[in-house]
Amino acid sequence: MGDTVLYEREGRIATITYNRPEALNAINAELRQDLNDAWRTFREDDEAWVGIVTGAGRAFSAGADVRGFGKPADKGTFWEVPSLTSLESGMEVWKPTIAAVNGYALGFGCTLVAACDFVIASERAQFGFPEVRLGVPTIQGAIRMPKRVSWQHAMELLLIGERVDAARAKEMGLVWKITPHEELMAEAHRLAERLLLSAPLAVRATKEVAHRGQEFDFMNAVRFGETMRKVAGATADAKSGPEAYRAKRPPVWEGR
Ligand code: COA
Repeated sequence: MGDTVLYEREGRIATITYNRPEALNAINAELRQDLNDAWRTFREDDEAWVGIVTGAGRAFSAGADVRGFGKPADKGTFWEVPSLTSLESGMEVWKPTIAAVNGYALGFGCTLVAACDFVIASERAQFGFPEVRLGVPTIQGAIRMPKRVSWQHAMELLLIGERVDAARAKEMGLVWKITPHEELMAEAHRLAERLLLSAPLAVRATKEVAHRGQEFDFMNAVRFGETMRKVAGATADAKSGPEAYRAKRPPVWEGR
């Protein structure tokens, strides 16, 4: 992994940090590759059960690096890197993810926010899809936002292209919680610790059913869910959880 994105793990919690603060963490081909590597590392790291993503400096990410836009072959732009290898564009990660939004989350940066399960925003956070004001459409943003917020709120962000602050983003349902700026990472860790009280494989099975259940028709969603219950029900944690309950002690999850 290069140094435009950092991957750090503390216990069961992994933190992924956009690390190109001099360009407000704008996403060029290098950063996107590093970001994809970081999410892949998280997905495959058996010790990491919850992921937090944030940005170094005063932005979460100002979106695609616009310097290459409109130039021949869009040299150096993020779409040189294949789509399905990134979390925003289709990488399947069933571990819970938290976006800790410390500042601007624009364009492709906002798309990643919309791909996370929880969004915690600093009071300084700003969200938006400025693409239409640059003359280009957002594809992943357009696909994700109507599933995340109401149609009108999605269209407000996608078609008007103006930035909204944390309070407005919370009103829209994009933000789960707003915190004072200095409290942002502590709040994200508090949420991660709460998620760690749940059995990790049951959490992942539930998230996968939640995702796929929206794509399948009802009968197939139920069948898929039943299959997942059998798979998750055969794990060691599915046995030790009820044992701990009966013994009136807290469970100790192993993730197997
Ligand atoms: N691509 C490339 N560089 C970017 C960038 C982007 N998307 N967003 C910010 N930067 C760079 C700026 O060029 C500047 O670098 P410089 O000092 O070398 O000129 C640096 O980051 C700081 O940005 P600046 O514009 O001076 O900060 P600001 O606080 O005045 O404004 C924004 C912040 C986010 C409002 C403004 O930078 C902006 O509108 N960025 C573009 C957002 C965008 O259109 N994203 C593309 C989505 S498709």
